[in-house]
Amino acid sequence: MMGYNISIGIDLGTTYSCIAAWRNGYVEVIANEQGHRTTPSYVAFTPTERLVGDEALYKGGINYKNTIYNIKRLIGRDFWDEDVQSDIDLWSFNVIEKLEKPYVRVEYKNEFKEFTPEEISSMILTKLKDNAQDYLGEEVKDAVITVPAYFNDAQRRATRDAGRIAGLNVLQIINEPTAAALAYSLNETKKGKENVLIVDLGGGTFDVSLLTINNNIFTVKATAGDTHLGGEDFTNRLVDYFVEEFKRKYDKDLSTNPRSLYRIRKACDRAKCILSFSDYASIEIEYLFDGIDFYSSITRAQFEELNSDLFEKILEPIERVLSDADLDKSDIDEIVLVGGSTRIPKIQKLVSSYFDGKKLRKTVNPDEAVACGAAIQAACLLGDFSETIKNLKLQDVIPLSLGVRIRGDIMHKIIKRNSPIPTSKTIKCRTYRDNQSSMKFRICQGERTLVKDNITLGEFSLNGITLAPRGEVKIYLNYDIDQNGILHITASEKGTKLSKKITISDCKGGLYQKDIEKLIKEAESYKEDDKRKKERIKTLNSLENYLYDLRNYLKTTELNHFLYPNLYQTTPPTPPTTPTIPPTPTTPTTPTMNLENEIKLIKTVNSMINWIHEHHNASKEDYEDKIKELKEVAKFIKKLC
Ligand SMILES: Nc1ncnc2c1ncn2[C@@H]1O[C@H](COP(=O)(O)OP(=O)(O)OP(=O)(O)O)[C@@H](O)[C@H]1O
Ligand SMILES: [Mg+2]
Repeated sequence: MMGYNISIGIDLGTTYSCIAAWRNGYVEVIANEQGHRTTPSYVAFTPTERLVGDEALYKGGINYKNTIYNIKRLIGRDFWDEDVQSDIDLWSFNVIEKLEKPYVRVEYKNEFKEFTPEEISSMILTKLKDNAQDYLGEEVKDAVITVPAYFNDAQRRATRDAGRIAGLNVLQIINEPTAAALAYSLNETKKGKENVLIVDLGGGTFDVSLLTINNNIFTVKATAGDTHLGGEDFTNRLVDYFVEEFKRKYDKDLSTNPRSLYRIRKACDRAKCILSFSDYASIEIEYLFDGIDFYSSITRAQFEELNSDLFEKILEPIERVLSDADLDKSDIDEIVLVGGSTRIPKIQKLVSSYFDGKKLRKTVNPDEAVACGAAIQAACLLGDFSETIKNLKLQDVIPLSLGVRIRGDIMHKIIKRNSPIPTSKTIKCRTYRDNQSSMKFRICQGERTLVKDNITLGEFSLNGITLAPRGEVKIYLNYDIDQNGILHITASEKGTKLSKKITISDCKGGLYQKDIEKLIKEAESYKEDDKRKKERIKTLNSLENYLYDLRNYLKTTELNHFLYPNLYQTTPPTPPTTPTIPPTPTTPTTPTMNLENEIKLIKTVNSMINWIHEHHNASKEDYEDKIKELKEVAKFIKKLC
């Protein structure tokens, strides 16, 4: 296969996302237009525009109802999911139910609009893609996207669909800890077999994967985790604590006001991060609620106490992967920490103590390792021949068992958890009634015995079965899991042509192909909006540059003898009543230049600077008009026109 130059990896995080590129044998993280190497997974809608990333986060305090965050906590889930219901109470934006799926409802350009989690995620992906395109100077099309290892089938499919809506060709969906292992290994020169435990605690999810790395062959032995445990939950505990304190002090419930809630949440997130480096953090928010300024503080010990039960939860998946992989603590060669929340000292202490004080590996960047690993995998899939990744092979597993409902509401496991992927397995079923013409299958995922305690991925029927006495007709049910960990199912009657092939999205929960096509078209329309926005900002920049060039130029003219330093004032200075005409310069700037022109220009420059302050959202055309106006006034200065 031809070697490609650039391969893209994307870590679509609950709180922050990151994009990395592999080119010329190296991986590099691509910073966004603000120079930040990770981009907040925030999307905001305003009366005039749609903002993604840092801009959406900055303006969240005033636009809290239409600022969407934590969308990864909704993707691929049902509206009535317990976690979804408890999250909704804490968010400042509106989540509604449509066909049992959660949709976010926002006001955008003065109209109410509803978006699926896939669409919001696609907006974040598009932003990352655009940043990469601007930086690399080429179109970005193919990418590997990561998901938490413990994401179920519905969540994986929804993430892949988000990638498609963003116009990406999703080469593969890979697990976040596996990607981190690839990045870790690239930094190491070690050869030979190693058992590596990746502990990934991010903003919304927790994953543990145990891999054997042997000369560029990565074999995941077991994986476990919690798709609803991360930094956001630790922040929530702080929010609850301060809401209570506020109630005690002022007898008022600030949680009834979404804006106050949004603001205290931001402050708590900051305090939480400070507590990783300091024993104490303070909170100061002016006019938090009912005109009350709120000042308080918290110690690291208090923070740890508030979260002790959540912190303890991280040990269970670690124990489980060891037992599933049939390994002992002492068999682990390296423990690699990934994800922003592994900076919390107590988390590090818990993991290290569990492994009898073992030193933890902190050589990979916890915020960037996942995206870097995804870029490495993309390079391998696209046939890059670089020495460091040559012959690299990845063998991942499915995180949760897949099965089908059988009588007694029991889940019969067809493919067990931690089975290597891709994989395929077929079971045989028989009709259980005379002349049975149809058979219904309920597809489930999870480890519990009863169907009701597991996730139901979907349901479908095979109709038109040959009529015969019970037990005589055999139906084959095949489960096929692809490289992305996504399930495809075929049910067929033995000896006939009757067969039905389905992907789960065809029967429940996910988006249909036609929905995706429609959403791709809609995403294109946002592209136009983004283009217009870029042009508007470019024109504003041209206007500002022009104004500042003129202002600097005017400083050098003879007139500044009596005008300078007032030139910088926003109100134009009044020239002396009887101005002394400055002496004619030895080399006059232009023949038509005179005091009157200069004064007019100074007035125009100053008033336009004021105008910009008040019209930051003006249209591209307005800015163009101003440039024209300015050119007219400044036409006597040839070199700046
Ligand atoms: N110094 C710190 N101390 C404590 N928490 C931190 C620190 N720095 C970042 N975090 C937390 O880490 C989380 C972000 O980490 P990361 O970017 O790895 O998560 P994510 O990729 O967005 O989420 P996920 O992987 O779960 O989808 C946030 O909750 C943030 O508050
Ligand atoms: Mg992450």
